[in-house]
Amino acid sequence: SGVSRRHILASGALAAGAAGLGWGTRDVVARANDVDTAQGSSTVPFYGEHQAGIATPPQAWGTFVAFDLPSQAQRGDVVGVLTAWTEDAARLTQGKPGLADLEPELAANPSRLTVTIGLGPRVFAVTGTEQHRPPWIAPLPSFDIDELDEKFTGGDLLLQVCADDPVPMAHAIRVLSRSVKTRATVRWVQRGFRDARGSVPEGATMRNLMGQVDGTNNLSPKEPDFGRLVWHNSTQYAWLNGGTSMVVRRIEMELDTWDELGRNDRELSMGRTLVNGAPLTGKDEHDEPDFDAKDRFGIPVIPPSSHIARARALHPDEEFFRRAYNYDDPPSPGQVSNSGLIFATFQADIEKQFLPIQRRLAEFDVLNEWTTPVGSAVFAIPPGCEQGDFIGRPLTG
Ligand code: HEM
Repeated sequence: SGVSRRHILASGALAAGAAGLGWGTRDVVARANDVDTAQGSSTVPFYGEHQAGIATPPQAWGTFVAFDLPSQAQRGDVVGVLTAWTEDAARLTQGKPGLADLEPELAANPSRLTVTIGLGPRVFAVTGTEQHRPPWIAPLPSFDIDELDEKFTGGDLLLQVCADDPVPMAHAIRVLSRSVKTRATVRWVQRGFRDARGSVPEGATMRNLMGQVDGTNNLSPKEPDFGRLVWHNSTQYAWLNGGTSMVVRRIEMELDTWDELGRNDRELSMGRTLVNGAPLTGKDEHDEPDFDAKDRFGIPVIPPSSHIARARALHPDEEFFRRAYNYDDPPSPGQVSNSGLIFATFQADIEKQFLPIQRRLAEFDVLNEWTTPVGSAVFAIPPGCEQGDFIGRPLTG
């Protein structure tokens, strides 16, 4: 009593406590220095031909924040937001404080922080550039399987903020949201996660909360086709060249009814094993599935109703890049869990690449029994920019 907290800290009480455990002060310091901070100081370049956070190997944490512009917003407001976001994102992602940063220390360990900026369908009307809006930068058509909640649907602007550490990510979101608060208001926030960095081998395919290996037959930025399928390139919408489009579907998993399914049925619904994600006709994760293989009764080994049988590309254009995050939010009363996927995809053209597969899955996919789309949003992702420029300038001028 009578000893202030500051006094305790100043007197080295912590080291004294450690000494009681048999450690000397020097050991404590040595152990603290042993911590590998290389991951914290890792940065991903902000400037460049493409925005970061797409071909970037997925970070452990991802937050998606959609914003609304006020009804009277004009081109200048959009340019103001994009300029502020570009300046702050260019600094924060390199471990430097934002321009009016009140907690600059929180910017010091960016941990591969990326900020990806998206433009929702209404931005084109607001900026008087409707003629430059690809028709598929629009809300997705509604599907019978959808039970969309306004809370996770639509949005005029998007920030996808990812990092391997949630602290710099939370800080970046705060700085970026505050700097535009007179011009745009938060519409929804979706927080997601994947395996923590270092807990699984680098480059391992993630698992979703149904336990499946998720992302095996996904495009890889290392593939030659990635550029053609992900980065937009047309003469009609030339402002978007080097950019892409993003679909964000929030898909709830009905884990309580999924619990009632045996392991074998779970594998049949996907067409892949749970242990390592191998197709039911193979042994290793990356074995090619054989959709023609039949068992001794003549029944297909991979059911035609399974998710991979329905989702696989039937045409070379029907491919897109999935960069999903798990979510696990507080359950509502009576619910055990509230989990699912923030199913984010990137593609050069939504109509040609994404919609044929989404339509097929909405028509039939046995996995629909345990999954429900509850949110949906579409954004144009402008190309990257060089220092001195801002993201979105080729559209807004
Ligand atoms: C494959 C899970 C929704 C498109 C897969 C795989 C899993 C999976 C585990 C197999 C491994 C892989 O190749 O990634 C899920 C879950 C979903 C979901 C849990 C919902 C909660 C969707 C949706 C789409 C989609 C909505 C498209 C609109 C695909 C595609 C493949 C795939 C294209 C690769 C198929 C192939 O070529 O083998 N998904 N998925 N998925 N999924 Fe999904």
